[in-house]
Amino acid sequence: MSSLAVENVVRTLENARKPHDRLAETLADDMEAVNRLIRERMASEHAPRIPEVTAHLVEAGGKRLRPMLTLASARLCGYTGRFHVHLAATVEFIHTATLLHDDVVDESGQRRGRPTANLLWDNKSSVLVGDYLFARSFQLMVETGSLRVLDILSNAAATIAEGEVLQLTAAQDLRTDEELYLKIVRGKTAALFAAATEVGGVISGKPEAQVRALNDYGDALGIAFQIVDDLLDFQGDTKQTGKNVGDDFRERKLTLPLIHAVAQADAEERAFWVRTIEKGRQEAGDLDTALDLLHRHRALAYTAEQARAWADRAKDALAPLPDHEIRDMLLDLADYVVERIS
Ligand code: IPE
Ligand code: IPE
Ligand code: MG
Ligand code: MG
Repeated sequence: MSSLAVENVVRTLENARKPHDRLAETLADDMEAVNRLIRERMASEHAPRIPEVTAHLVEAGGKRLRPMLTLASARLCGYTGRFHVHLAATVEFIHTATLLHDDVVDESGQRRGRPTANLLWDNKSSVLVGDYLFARSFQLMVETGSLRVLDILSNAAATIAEGEVLQLTAAQDLRTDEELYLKIVRGKTAALFAAATEVGGVISGKPEAQVRALNDYGDALGIAFQIVDDLLDFQGDTKQTGKNVGDDFRERKLTLPLIHAVAQADAEERAFWVRTIEKGRQEAGDLDTALDLLHRHRALAYTAEQARAWADRAKDALAPLPDHEIRDMLLDLADYVVERIS
């Protein structure tokens, strides 16, 4: 084979690997340091329940997408210090805490391919260990000594909680529209993505325009990510997502596919949504009927189109950032977020 042909094969193989994997490989050393720090800080001298519950979730893996975003944006900004590791661990601790709480609130039974902590232990353990992890995340970020970083991450933590509470009060309400949905998604998910990328720029001391670009990228990426999560809740493969299908319907959440189908419902369909979502009188077979209605109104296709549009916005946001292999990977990551199945 000529050297050109070999080069082409190498490039094809390179492209076939998921952007998520490419970023993970490029940032492998940093990520190893993050995982070490997470393991070190999830320990508790006094309450063995804490490492038990945390290890159950942390050792199940997870995509580590948010810490990867922090590491990537610090690398892209040419950061040479050591606090990107603390910040990435902070972000994953916040994420892990919200997952423990979220599974209690959503009464979910499966996470990362394992039974949830609320199922294996109980709600009390999940809530309290989640609180512990939140507190640990604050200790970690304080170590960076940057008030600006503290401001960004503590705001994100408050915004996530706000988003979850807003979702709680919007659930079961068929009047929930796309505007309110976007507000919820921005709060519960995109706020942490945006903070994760932004702090990487902030500790690197980058100009405001670049820090803002990183925030905009994280925001749009997080929205695309959550829209796809809501899509996968209806049509994902449990073996891939590690979560149960139909959780959102059972929890009577007005996610984007449902909002789209409800907006186009005729009288009979509306009666179905009123019974299952508003009144919560769900029967066997209702999830299949809901899926039929979603297909009838192209609601899943519409939702995928919206995710794609947000991923494109994420890519556009990267324009002010310098040419860099990490920037290319972040561009590809936006595509991965839309195409992902896990
Ligand atoms: C789950 O996030 C919570 C959402 C915002 C949808 P991830 O899908 O990133 O969860 P892990 O960390 O990979 O398990
Ligand atoms: C996730 O929303 C938001 C947070 C964890 C803050 P979901 O409830 O859709 O996430 P999953 O599907 O349980 O992971
Ligand atoms: Mg949930
Ligand atoms: Mg979900």
